[in-house]
Amino acid sequence: MRKLSNILVTGGAGFIGSNFIRYVMKNTDFTGTVINVDNLTYAGNMHSLKDIKSEFGDKRYFFEKADICDKSKIEDIFKKYNIDTVVHFAAESHVDRSITGPEAFIKTNVFGTFTLLEVSRKFWGERHDVLFHHVSTDEVYGSLGDTGFFYEDTPYDPRSPYSASKASSDHLVFSYFHTYHLPVTLSNCSNNYGPYHFPEKLIPLMILNILDEKPLPVYGDGKNIRDWLFVEDHNSAVWAVINNGTTGEKYNIGGENEWENITLVHYLCERMAHFTGKDNDYYKKLITYVKDRPGHDRRYAINCDKLKNQLGWKQSVDFAKGLDKTIQWYLSNSDWINTVKSGEYLKWVENNYTARG
Ligand code: NAD
Ligand code: TYD
Repeated sequence: MRKLSNILVTGGAGFIGSNFIRYVMKNTDFTGTVINVDNLTYAGNMHSLKDIKSEFGDKRYFFEKADICDKSKIEDIFKKYNIDTVVHFAAESHVDRSITGPEAFIKTNVFGTFTLLEVSRKFWGERHDVLFHHVSTDEVYGSLGDTGFFYEDTPYDPRSPYSASKASSDHLVFSYFHTYHLPVTLSNCSNNYGPYHFPEKLIPLMILNILDEKPLPVYGDGKNIRDWLFVEDHNSAVWAVINNGTTGEKYNIGGENEWENITLVHYLCERMAHFTGKDNDYYKKLITYVKDRPGHDRRYAINCDKLKNQLGWKQSVDFAKGLDKTIQWYLSNSDWINTVKSGEYLKWVENNYTARG
């Protein structure tokens, strides 16, 4: 087991990063310091860490507003906190946005990762007791047909600007391992869901639209398939990898839980009806088929046997329970929803719906 003391978490104000910080502070025996570096794009939300700030702020949890592309700021942060571990979540993360505006994806996901790698390499020199963990996606492997799975050695075949930028960053990370012997690990995870998820992604968008009784936009024929994992299970996997993973290796993380989009949206409508006291089919009338996403990957499915067999990880949250927990979280956190709705969210929903309508 590695000794981790001062962990720099990039993108800690985002969906998975904020859940990761909460997981580390509250669900593990970690006693060190977490430094959250985030430049608060539309997807970053300080309200997602209010509880952590009030419990651990300026003692074991610190926030630094910085762009990961800003080398001198990142160098200062490494020095100030004597960073020994990087867990790199920060990214532009939404496929639809990468289609309408790819430049930010190249800047943050490629150049930002490169900048972090450079600073790590220079700050750490030849040290072996340090780690750079890169959080990536199963989308780098491309699109599957009706059968088969993504394995760690599946060739990369990214098809959106988002997945291409993540694939580039994955290659850069391994190039630093081979060329400079920087201790790195990498994980490729399937679709996450859970609390604090920005409502531009399928599940939270549907939950909020159902609450407002707005149209539920289903892309194309609705038969694309995603493999869903509760966010805390992703984070327990990342924790397992940074503590016990082998440097220079990558680990797939998945839910082993495939759903066709339209089946999932029907199920969500039913669960929302259950919680709001409506008839089972009440919300289904809102479902609206819209123009497909260009280059829409058909199916993702992860094989995560390596992680299970080598590091003893397994999913702990059953999908029905995780989804109910997620819905209940949105129903009881209107404050958080209001912070999101006061920002760029509404504009995005309007624009996206008009573009596809
Ligand atoms: P998110 O969009 O919710 O959060 C991203 C965070 O990064 C935000 O807080 C944002 O402010 C910050 N950020 C963006 N650009 C930055 C920059 N230049 N400098 C500093 N901070 C910046 O994303 P997420 O869904 O939490 O995803 C986190 C990571 O996990 C990403 O690397 C993504 O590729 C990966 N991933 C996500 C999923 C998923 O289902 N969401 C699945 C697999 C992998
Ligand atoms: P998304 O949550 O954007 O994740 P990703 O594209 O990274 O897998 O989308 C999940 C699936 O849902 C994907 O097949 C696209 C589809 N989708 C819709 O049908 N309607 C929507 O409004 C959104 C946001 C996604």
